[in-house]
Amino acid sequence: MFVLQTSGVSNVKLNNGVLMPEVGLGTWKAHEQGTLRETVKAALGMGYRHIDCAKYYGNQREIGDALKEAGVPRKDLFITSKIFENRHRPELVAGALDEILDELQLEYLDLLLVHWPYALNPEIDHDDFTANDLDDVPIMDTWRAMETLIGTGKVRAIGVSNFNRSILQRMLPQCRVRPAVNQIEVHPYNPEHKLVGYCQANDIAVTGYCPLGGGRVDVLGDSTIQRIAAAHGCSPAQVLISWQVARGIAAIPKSNNESRLKQNLQTVTLTLDEMQAIGQITARQRKVDPSRNTPELRWVFHEDEAKCPLI
Ligand SMILES: NC(=O)c1ccc[n+]([C@@H]2O[C@H](COP(=O)([O-])OP(=O)(O)OC[C@H]3O[C@@H](n4cnc5c(N)ncnc54)[C@H](OP(=O)(O)O)[C@@H]3O)[C@@H](O)[C@H]2O)c1
Repeated sequence: MFVLQTSGVSNVKLNNGVLMPEVGLGTWKAHEQGTLRETVKAALGMGYRHIDCAKYYGNQREIGDALKEAGVPRKDLFITSKIFENRHRPELVAGALDEILDELQLEYLDLLLVHWPYALNPEIDHDDFTANDLDDVPIMDTWRAMETLIGTGKVRAIGVSNFNRSILQRMLPQCRVRPAVNQIEVHPYNPEHKLVGYCQANDIAVTGYCPLGGGRVDVLGDSTIQRIAAAHGCSPAQVLISWQVARGIAAIPKSNNESRLKQNLQTVTLTLDEMQAIGQITARQRKVDPSRNTPELRWVFHEDEAKCPLI
């Protein structure tokens, strides 16, 4: 994956030539502390240009307000959002994008992702669902509707999130527009070596979510990470983000705290030995797994092809 430097900010070049800043701001649950608008404006003030949003997060209107108030030229921003699982039916996809644009108060997105590879019935608007609420929409039907959005001027790139190798392998030969990005959970306890390798070999950029373990997976407290942080005189979070971007993976840490926001933008250069030491951590844990609540969704992260309602 190419990493380009433009005016001090490093970018990942997507397969259609669009540049995506390698460090962005995560916004899941970022409204819960009541300071999201100030957080987004502070982040933009210190140089963040990539904001990761989703219909599901329920806070896009506030983010849109902050974007307007901050006044950064639209062309300098990289705004990602994701369609929720209840909008996978092909006839609902364009409307889902319009809803997102309305909330963010934007004319276009830089990147629109299919948030998850499974679909929910249209009336389910929350993630407290059961197997009865799953909708039988083949992912290629949703993807073909996504492809029609390119050329409308409303999205610069389209991609996927939480897609495993088995799904991508069967999807790619049928795609008219190949996904530009796969956004997946990446940190040393869920390094996704094979999936990242597969995506990068197929010119699909990877964005890693929960780069700091998302408050549930204690990668910040890992002894290898702590040792490397001490050697660089930086924080464990900076080591985690630096490890990710050194792999050519964009990182989207969430913070509502000004000094942590600042710190998360400042990566350090890790040595080959340090990269290898982190790559060799053997602990395994995910923060996010829908099969914890809905066992029928085991195929999402366990590559059981038989149950993937794909094509
Ligand atoms: N595509 C998907 O399905 C999916 C799933 C999950 C997440 N995401 C995206 O990925 C983003 C990041 O994931 P996440 O929010 O779950 O987790 P994360 O970014 O790994 O971790 C966020 C937590 O780390 C803390 N933190 C931030 N900077 C820190 C630092 N320098 N040192 C110590 N602690 C720090 C934050 O607290 P403070 O706010 O107090 O600093 C917060 O509790 C999300 O916000 C969302 O945009 C996407």
